[in-house]
Amino acid sequence: LQAAEGQYPINMLQRADLKEAGLEIPLERIFNPGKTSLINGVVRIGGCTGSFVSEEGLILTNHHCVFGSLKQFATPENDYLNQGFLARERSAELPVNGLTIKILQSYRDVSSEMQAAIEGVDDPEEQEERLEARRQEILQQEKEAHPGLTLELSEMLTRRSYVVFRYKVYRDLRLVYVPPKSMGSFGGNVDNWEWPRHSGDFAFVRAYSGPGGEPADYSPDNIPLEPEQVLEVNPDGLDQGDFAFILGYPGRTYRNQAAEFIHYQEQYFMPYIQQLYAWEMEKLQAFSQIKPSLEIKYARRIARLGNTEKNFRGKLKALERIELYQKRRARDERLRKRMAERPALQERYGEVIPKLRALYEQKEALTYPYYWSRLLVSYAPEMKLAYYGGRAAEDPERFRNDSAFRAGVLSAMEAAYRKHDPRRDTLYLRKMLTDAIEYLNGLTKAGSTDAFGLAINREEIRPFIEKGYGAKLLDSSRFLPAFRQAPAKAMRKKGGIFAEWMREMLPYYQRIDRMWDANQTKIDAQTALYADLRQEVKGQAFLPDANGTLRLTYGHIKGYSPADATRYKPFTSLSGILSKMNQGGVYEVYPPLKAAINQYQPGPFYHPPIESVPVNLLYNMDTTGGNSGSPILDSRGRLVGLNFDRTFEATVNDFEWNERYSRSIGVDVRYMLWVLKDVVEGDALLREMGVASGK
Ligand code: ARG
Ligand code: GLU
Repeated sequence: LQAAEGQYPINMLQRADLKEAGLEIPLERIFNPGKTSLINGVVRIGGCTGSFVSEEGLILTNHHCVFGSLKQFATPENDYLNQGFLARERSAELPVNGLTIKILQSYRDVSSEMQAAIEGVDDPEEQEERLEARRQEILQQEKEAHPGLTLELSEMLTRRSYVVFRYKVYRDLRLVYVPPKSMGSFGGNVDNWEWPRHSGDFAFVRAYSGPGGEPADYSPDNIPLEPEQVLEVNPDGLDQGDFAFILGYPGRTYRNQAAEFIHYQEQYFMPYIQQLYAWEMEKLQAFSQIKPSLEIKYARRIARLGNTEKNFRGKLKALERIELYQKRRARDERLRKRMAERPALQERYGEVIPKLRALYEQKEALTYPYYWSRLLVSYAPEMKLAYYGGRAAEDPERFRNDSAFRAGVLSAMEAAYRKHDPRRDTLYLRKMLTDAIEYLNGLTKAGSTDAFGLAINREEIRPFIEKGYGAKLLDSSRFLPAFRQAPAKAMRKKGGIFAEWMREMLPYYQRIDRMWDANQTKIDAQTALYADLRQEVKGQAFLPDANGTLRLTYGHIKGYSPADATRYKPFTSLSGILSKMNQGGVYEVYPPLKAAINQYQPGPFYHPPIESVPVNLLYNMDTTGGNSGSPILDSRGRLVGLNFDRTFEATVNDFEWNERYSRSIGVDVRYMLWVLKDVVEGDALLREMGVASGK
């Protein structure tokens, strides 16, 4: 049986061949409008997914989704980030500041209401404005009709299909068990996006509600949340070839985009960001060598950069290998032929492909100026101060009277002061200015007159930065009080050369921003037509790309061939952990894990075909970022694993999914349960999930 590509929205489950593929429960068990079903057991947690595994609000998700929260509790004596945490009793659980879960309650398709707002309007920018206004109207009505719920209006298909999702949000979340980093992200970034994998990327948190079950801020009087639906844990796990499905919140995919979108991603966006991140990682790694406190300070940033950098590297390599841009161009060629045969199509869509090409050409020409104007401000806090200070100085009247504007400016500036780290920031600033000037020189050589209005040259960057650092602008206690009183005067008198420079740059920034947004609006309008054309030719509606809303994907436990003569099996085992530990390097030893593997005797979580406890597993389901922590469910809807990654070859499936090499990676349920039984004192958690520990 071949799994189809697809991240099915819950209102399109009928389109999936679930029964044929192996599902043994009725569809209504997965989703049943107005009634409780499996989807009620799945939550969005931060940027990830999680699921309820006990009647007392216990949530299973990935280590990498929550371990950063441990930073809030770390002390010089307690290196929680590295060592992990286990609450021995309820009262010891750690309440996390800022972590929330969302549980989907219901939804409503509002496509026709949105469409009605732009009927007869041709100008893409006016369409955009009207859509935004209608969006606000709908959300306002929804808010009145559903007090207490959090409402999101999601665009499912560009300019065509819209759905309001209604969520219940709980905000008292407490850490219960987070494994040490040596287990939770075993192999670090070397193993990240790779198979064979041996990661214990799982963690438990508990949701609490107010005494009446309602969402509430943290309070010692809160009680464990009683979920509407708990996922049953199947401690026997799955075998190779078995059917499985995943419910979760995939973030973004781009499968319905035009050929030129691939070109832009492949030639502009991804190479620039990949190289920028690689550069930044190298700098931060060098700082980390200086002293342990800097190593701790930069560790999470380095991990995040490394994760994205490697993902983009994987995508770039694969885009070249599968020649996706050429394929999409060939597809457009076929579309053109179809249009030539059908005058009605030609009349409606004849312009779409050439227009998209022209629009993406514009976008590509704007790319670097736009990136630098954005990145200067987002990367260099000095420039963020100059930028937001400059916005207020430009319009002191508004700063005084428009409280939202004022608050926005001040909070951006306060954030910049908090983040400011001269050792690092001067490097960023220099890098951005240098890149910009190099590009500008290229343009000048090419004879272009529409140059980036940068008023300094390469040799002046260093003195420019030194001079800028002499100004009071960078000293919040000396600058902010005066700025609050009279922004324009403060920027003039105390802002120094950064403020002066930004004053010249602001009109340019605003122009670039407007051009970029206007271009995107036009691209969206054409992309919608492009999708109409393809659907008409195909005679079938597309599945919407991932957009952070609840989806189902299904498939089978299955290996693949990453290269000639090489075959990857779908399960890794405990002995693989030991071999890696013996290699050393990034494969850190977690002594209790090593000891437990050394003493291992076949027990309840043993899988005969691999003669071990399965650690991680591979499957041909369609997942992306945001699916982290999603429950992997068996044919009866019981939890058998936890999604956390994809293989290197599969990173490209955000653009195109392929059964040959698109594989995702999960933690096997048997490994999690075995760890709770044999590695840590997790009996209470096993009992709570209704799993006999066999002790
Ligand atoms: N690649 C996975 C994801 O995109 C896991 C990342 C966390 N692990 C790590 N070693 N950085 O989130
Ligand atoms: N680790 C990713 C996440 O945080 C999932 C891996 C992927 O991108 O597929 O969601």
